[in-house]
Amino acid sequence: MVLLKMFVIPQILIYLTIQQSSCAPRSSDLTIERANEFITQNKNNVKQTYRLKYHAMAPIGWINDPNGFIYFRGEYHLFYQYNPYSAVWDTMHWGHAKSKDLVHWEELPVALAPDQIYDTDGVFSGSAIEKDGKLYVMYTGNNPNGQVQCIAVSEDGIHFEKVSENPVLDASDLPSNAQPQDFRDPKVFKRGDLYYVVTVSKTVNETGQVLLYQSADLINWEFKSILLEGTKEQGIMWECPDLFELESKDVLILSAIQMARSGNDYHNIDSVIEFIGEVDWNEGKMKVESIKELDHGHDFYATQSLLDDKDRRIVIAWMNMWGRTFPTAILNQGWTGAMTLPRELHLKNGYLTQTPIAEIANALQHVTEFKDVTLIDQSGEFNQVAGEVGMLDLVVNLEEAKLFKIELRANENERTILSYDNESKELTIDRTNSGVYIAGGENPPVNARKIEVPQENNELSLQIFLDQSSLEIFVNGGLETLTTTIYPTEERSEIILFYSEGKTVIKSLKFSKIVL
Ligand SMILES: *[C@@H]1O[C@H](CO)[C@@H](O)[C@H](O)[C@H]1NC(C)=O
Ligand SMILES: *[C@@H]1O[C@H](CO)[C@@H](O)[C@H](O)[C@H]1NC(C)=O
Repeated sequence: MVLLKMFVIPQILIYLTIQQSSCAPRSSDLTIERANEFITQNKNNVKQTYRLKYHAMAPIGWINDPNGFIYFRGEYHLFYQYNPYSAVWDTMHWGHAKSKDLVHWEELPVALAPDQIYDTDGVFSGSAIEKDGKLYVMYTGNNPNGQVQCIAVSEDGIHFEKVSENPVLDASDLPSNAQPQDFRDPKVFKRGDLYYVVTVSKTVNETGQVLLYQSADLINWEFKSILLEGTKEQGIMWECPDLFELESKDVLILSAIQMARSGNDYHNIDSVIEFIGEVDWNEGKMKVESIKELDHGHDFYATQSLLDDKDRRIVIAWMNMWGRTFPTAILNQGWTGAMTLPRELHLKNGYLTQTPIAEIANALQHVTEFKDVTLIDQSGEFNQVAGEVGMLDLVVNLEEAKLFKIELRANENERTILSYDNESKELTIDRTNSGVYIAGGENPPVNARKIEVPQENNELSLQIFLDQSSLEIFVNGGLETLTTTIYPTEERSEIILFYSEGKTVIKSLKFSKIVL
């Protein structure tokens, strides 16, 4: 057995996620020009230590939810909740990046600033759609009277104008059981001749619900129905709804605030839930057939998806979580937050599977490969299987194994542990000793997450994407995923160590670098 050194965990005060930054300009000065000027002048001061190599990030400052994710004129556009002025959350703008392949991202100017009465407290989350060759975005305007939905239009996909009809949806468009202070995150789509939008609101009973509106022109909207109401266990409020058809089912993905824990599920403060079923479009109601947590790691929230020209349904998420300490902010790195690797969605046995977008293969540089290596009650490293950024692809046979374990991003003192217990059939990711300690407001355990994974012919397959401060693990072809951020503190943390209690046969093991 490899014994881990015991660590005394420092009690770190929970950083308030909503915190006034001293260098941010006053609200009346929050223009696009000011934001872009600040970014140009300061982005070179951002510390590189934990910056990711192949994930979408902002050049400087804080980001959260992905917004306006769309395939437009041959390119993928990604907007995001953005405070350029500091590494903590503050009055939201929309940052903007685009990509030809979902792997190489090009930074674009800030798209929206909180410069109107109806969005003075923040240009909150929303989505994008193409109409008459123009790019329309629909977002939530946050203001002292509540949350309203607004439209901005762009001819070139870069510069936006907010329409004079704003807000296009306000408190008067809400059903009687809704609270106007929590009415947000419009995800717009077209179906037949009509545009629809799903948004969320908090009910007077402090639960989440998804609202459906329809429109002929994206400007004049009519309330259609409450698509789905949440139970008490499903959180005190829902966020970021996304409704689409996939392989002849209707899929609703949303993010639930304070979803109740159940078994190994929903252990973070907030969770992403998939609902699979059928929408009755006459009634505007969703009949749910199955419900599941979409990712079982620590850092996966506020998903948004697009459909591209190859008919692929691709989802991306904010690779962080609320209610936690954010190491890059605490360590004055000048930035916080990133997006996950974009993932292609499919259905298998009534649930979503996620696989990394195929284009990432072009960035893989083969390093080494092993076949049929048996480990019996031993630990060991493989020649050249080491690195901070790369992809580890392995298939193991566990017929005679008790426990199989991989230590990732390891050095003498730190490691992140992925282990599979052949008795409980649980795969666990434990970042307790991975580096900078991350404190969280949830009930313990804060830093270990697990998921039951059945074997297929006594085998388990793992595809592990490592980046400078993240791990994304795709299990059994994407049936499960675990996404987790880590912040090793030592100069190098590139050891990958394998360990078996009982006999594990590593059927195949490939290691590749990821270089853009
Ligand atoms: C609030 O909850 C109570 C008790 O479950 C229920 O009777 C009532 O209809 C709910 N109100 C609304 C507006 O949904
Ligand atoms: C490991 O799990 C497999 C599949 O459930 C089982 O057949 C096998 O007996 C287990 N091995 C050990 C050593 O417990």
